Amino acid sequence: KIICTAAIRGAYKIVDKADKKLADAIAQKGRDCKVEFPNTAYYLPIIYSMTGVAVKTLEDCEYILGMARSMLPPLPAEKHWVPYLGHTLDAGMATLFAEEVYEACKYLIGPHPVDGIWLGAADDVIMRERGIEFVDGTAPGFAAIVGCAPDADTAVKIARELQQKNLYVFIQSDNFGVSFAEQLAEKGVQMGWDTRLVPFGKETSAAVYSLGFANRAALSFGNVPPGEARRNLLYNKNRIFAFVLAIGTAVTDEQYANAAGAINYGFPTISNIDIPEILPTGVCTYEHVVSRVPVDKIVDKCIEVRGLKISIHKMDIPVPYGPAFEGERIRKEDMQIEIGGPGVPAFEYVCTKEIDEVEDGKIQVIGPDLDDIKPGPGVSLGIMVEVAGRKMQPDFEPIFERQMHRFLGEAQGLFHMGQRDIIRHRISKEAFKAGFRIKHIGSIIHSQFHSNFGAIVDKVQVTFYTKREDVERILKDVRAAYAERDARLKGMTDDSVNLFYSCTLCQSFAPTHICVVTPERSGLCGSVSWLDGKAGYEINPTGPNQPIERGKVVNDTLGQWEGTNSFIFNGSNRSLEKVSLYSIMTDPMTSCGCFECISAMLPMTNGIMVVDRDFTEMTPCGMKFSTLAGTVGGGLQTPGFMGHSKFYLGSRKFISADGGLGRVVWMPKALKEELAETLTKTAAELGLEDFLNKIADETVAQTEDEVAAYMQKVNHPALAMAPMF
Ligand code: SF4
Ligand code: NI
Ligand code: NI
Repeated sequence: KIICTAAIRGAYKIVDKADKKLADAIAQKGRDCKVEFPNTAYYLPIIYSMTGVAVKTLEDCEYILGMARSMLPPLPAEKHWVPYLGHTLDAGMATLFAEEVYEACKYLIGPHPVDGIWLGAADDVIMRERGIEFVDGTAPGFAAIVGCAPDADTAVKIARELQQKNLYVFIQSDNFGVSFAEQLAEKGVQMGWDTRLVPFGKETSAAVYSLGFANRAALSFGNVPPGEARRNLLYNKNRIFAFVLAIGTAVTDEQYANAAGAINYGFPTISNIDIPEILPTGVCTYEHVVSRVPVDKIVDKCIEVRGLKISIHKMDIPVPYGPAFEGERIRKEDMQIEIGGPGVPAFEYVCTKEIDEVEDGKIQVIGPDLDDIKPGPGVSLGIMVEVAGRKMQPDFEPIFERQMHRFLGEAQGLFHMGQRDIIRHRISKEAFKAGFRIKHIGSIIHSQFHSNFGAIVDKVQVTFYTKREDVERILKDVRAAYAERDARLKGMTDDSVNLFYSCTLCQSFAPTHICVVTPERSGLCGSVSWLDGKAGYEINPTGPNQPIERGKVVNDTLGQWEGTNSFIFNGSNRSLEKVSLYSIMTDPMTSCGCFECISAMLPMTNGIMVVDRDFTEMTPCGMKFSTLAGTVGGGLQTPGFMGHSKFYLGSRKFISADGGLGRVVWMPKALKEELAETLTKTAAELGLEDFLNKIADETVAQTEDEVAAYMQKVNHPALAMAPMF
């Protein structure tokens, strides 16, 4: 029982190594040189969250390493018994500080952390997107894998098992030069955030990317202020179900030191190797270290030790199923068939029927199934899903259709792309060999519709048409149905409905935030439309989507009603009194953190700029998206700043109280291109001529001055508008 000795020894080695690296960096770049992980507002996140120190320069790094060294306990003599865990925990934390400095220096002077399969630090865009899954339970947590499996096949098996349990797999460190990620790569396993298999780095120090991710979740979603170490660690212990999985033939001192670091977070280490135990203290209610677990039992053991509650969908299909498989692509060489694509008739259609017209669970394939379909592209398929239920409404059909993307994509070996009559799906050879057939798509739809929409749907039947002539014939009627549906939705405006809907899903991490969702303003995450809100209320009448009666008008132009104001007052824990639905300047709507875009006033231009998540460069307001997000989020009202969806940007109600779309003076080129069609249409409706070309982007203006100059050149309409404030 001498792990503490090894961990402390490891910590010394790591601090020494970081010292050397930092000295190199200073010699090459100077003490004032800036250091950062890419595109984050959380600096070096472990250091920032634990100490509150925002490391910005190499000089700051020196200060931190000094601190790390002072945290190192006296080096115990060989085989010396360390009687309590405190010293080891300190050594663990010192290790992580030193490693963050070390990795940050690598970004400056190399070897660059992003290299080949290795991804390096996750930026804030990824952190928000993925971190929320930890908070809302879509992903229970992560397994931090250290070392490598006895062979590549076993590595694949372990990875698949973890993926099926919806866990993220964070990979770092190696075992005698071989890493788990390299084993997966050798077997052609797809890695990356989409598949939840995340290779951070081959060095042991890459562990700080896993643990720093956890710290940032607490800072961002848990609202834990930087510097509040204890709260941050407790948040992680209680909310993030993580553990270290050390596989291999031996554990190095450095790996011991990192394991000690992880124990600070309440993350235990499970290993196949004989690891001497760290003395249990009050930190955890379970064991810190579990060793000598046979490799084939190791995933089960992790789940047991950390006490994960895992719900696995039981579905009668021959392939694994779960969110981790949604991001998986199927390459041409690996596909059995491709359904749809250009010139190939195919569709997916959900339609509402009377209760006696549907036989629940009936799945029919009219025409040949996979055994008799020629492998390759160009396969015609019509998927007709007929549903019935007392609470079902035709308005909900598009919502169901949209969810099919996720439902079908989560089957391994089934790749789902597009919707309606522009689908393009692939089924892999591997899935075919495992026994997957077209009818299994029906089993997925049947079971997922029941488990997700059980409150409104009583019966589901699915019919597949696999003969081209059938698909062509039926497609005529289906297209007519789509057109009718679109016409109905287009006619819907805020004034045409009696009820708006709330969404309070994000209150779990932004406790005062409420999205008010209307036909012309969707939730700021972009995934909750007014119809979604309506359906959400039917599906779960006590859930996050509640109807809001507008009541008496307070201010028509601003978009304030007595009903919406009082709903927000009560729902925000009485912290907000008024919210305007159509203004960025007067009582704007609050933001949680999942906005697709942020709008920010540019005072010199008499207009606003809009930036979306994918644009990570500097913007004319002097802040990057990640910094702006920190300013705007958290459920606060910040006049002049607002988070919103892409949809809202193309709405005629977009900040209509402040002058509307015509106020937009800058946005990233890619966003402009993505939204070109709807923006052009709305601009025309608002009487703005050639408007898209008048919006500056990063290719013509990077500063506020340059935006103003560009506006003069193109005679931007905002120049002639009333002053914004
Ligand atoms: Fe709901 Fe708004 Fe959060 Fe989207 S951003 S989930 S609409 S509260
Ligand atoms: Ni899939
Ligand atoms: Ni949100």
